[in-house]
Amino acid sequence: MWNKSTIAAAGAAALFFTSVAAQTQQTDATSAPEADSGGVIEGDATAGAAVFIKCRACHSIEPNKMKVGPSLYGVVGRTPGTLEGYKFSPAMIAFGVSGAVWDEATLDAYLIAPRDMVPGIKMIFPGLPDSQNRADLFAYFESLVAEDGAQ
Ligand code: HEC
Repeated sequence: MWNKSTIAAAGAAALFFTSVAAQTQQTDATSAPEADSGGVIEGDATAGAAVFIKCRACHSIEPNKMKVGPSLYGVVGRTPGTLEGYKFSPAMIAFGVSGAVWDEATLDAYLIAPRDMVPGIKMIFPGLPDSQNRADLFAYFESLVAEDGAQ
């Protein structure tokens, strides 16, 4: 009964089932983070660079280069209104003193409508209603500092 070819066939069948099981697991693994992320959108740094065109008139991404607005290099993790060498409005300084930090959630909420979130600031910009744009910008800001770190 158990000649060589049955054993080979059984082996092949076992392999087949193992790979199906592995594939099923993989599908589960890739779909799980989406379910857990609570609707947070993945940002794309390259797309974010294109969105930044809307900010470029007033903001540089070079460290310490100020325009009408402060440099946005390294903005992720910064306390609002604290970048040396830029004269912030009292409103933006007060926002930082209140304990705010430019993390993903704060930047996202801010960029929907900046002057609604922090009334009295000097930034005259209506906002970015598209949440994908905001997620892409965040990825872009993060990538700037990550690239420098890799050098
Ligand atoms: C018309 C000019 C203008 C445009 C356009 C503009 N900003 Fe600003 N932004 C400012 C000014 C001025 C400030 C300083 C606000 C203050 O001190 O009240 C500022 C402040 C900020 C800050 C706070 C920085 C810090 O260190 O606390 C962030 C973040 C920011 N802008 C993001 C953006 C992004 C992202 C865009 C594009 C989607 C953008 N801004 C477009 C003028 C602008």
